[in-house]
Amino acid sequence: MAPPAVRRDRARLSGGAPEFDLSRPNAARICNVLLDGKDNFESDRSAAHDLLHWAPEMRALAKAGRDFLGRAVRHLTDGPEIGQFLDLGTGMPIHCNVHDMAAQSHPSPRVVYVDNDTVAVTHARALLDNGTTTVAIEGDLRDPTRILEDPQVAAILDFERPVAVLMTSVLHFVADADRPGESVRTFLEALAPGSALVISHACRDHAAPEALAGVEAVYEATTTPLTARTRDEIAALFDGWELGPRGPVDIAYWPLSTERRPRPAMTLYGGVAHLRPWAARS
Ligand SMILES: C[S@@+](CC[C@H](N)C(=O)[O-])C[C@H]1O[C@@H](n2cnc3c(N)ncnc32)[C@H](O)[C@@H]1O
Repeated sequence: MAPPAVRRDRARLSGGAPEFDLSRPNAARICNVLLDGKDNFESDRSAAHDLLHWAPEMRALAKAGRDFLGRAVRHLTDGPEIGQFLDLGTGMPIHCNVHDMAAQSHPSPRVVYVDNDTVAVTHARALLDNGTTTVAIEGDLRDPTRILEDPQVAAILDFERPVAVLMTSVLHFVADADRPGESVRTFLEALAPGSALVISHACRDHAAPEALAGVEAVYEATTTPLTARTRDEIAALFDGWELGPRGPVDIAYWPLSTERRPRPAMTLYGGVAHLRPWAARS
């Protein structure tokens, strides 16, 4: 069966905000549709509709991804007491964001929000950036050095102390040609011992081939094409990090190991890893 065509429309932000061409859907706003948010446009809703045609589990997957992010952040603020976060691929702000989640168990979390989508960053600046303990910047994780050297990042995060790098539901929007593993490695080299890495990533292992092809075709027409990877490829993104013997797991059940998801289905695999002392910057 041929994938449904992604309908195009042109929409504009209004109310004095800068104008953006919203004729192409984007991962940030598609995710917002799947999470029942209001910050999206007809092109995004149309793409989300087509995604759900191919993989009805995508709505639950978006929710499971946010829930995993929350559990991971609370695990880090509860346990090794990490209070600094670099959130790469923030997406559209929703009711509970990283600094809200961290503040549930850390007295003074500091968070840098980064996204390469202008609309997502505009919303993040308005809703998440207080200029003192949180900042939202436009940045591309394919250019990690630029993010790490941004003075706004240095003003919020102290890289002499542990930082958690969050890459949830974002690395599958980085093509193999753009070397996502090298980006992860560059962030790793900038971090102090005790730092952490959180990844969730679309896994192709359990998806029905036709559904996966349909989902990838829908994303191909967006500004954010999808590269779902195998569990082994996702494991390789953690090279240099201590992920534990189980490797990446279905994040819907993290930190438990039991997996009860009916097959076939799209899944998100990942985990929370810690920095091996030898890999940290000297
Ligand atoms: C599905 S949303 C994930 C939002 C959030 N991290 C979560 O877990 O719910 C993916 C976000 O990654 C952003 N993104 C995609 N590629 C990126 C890149 N190369 N650099 C920075 N952000 C990127 C998209 O604009 C989008 O906002």
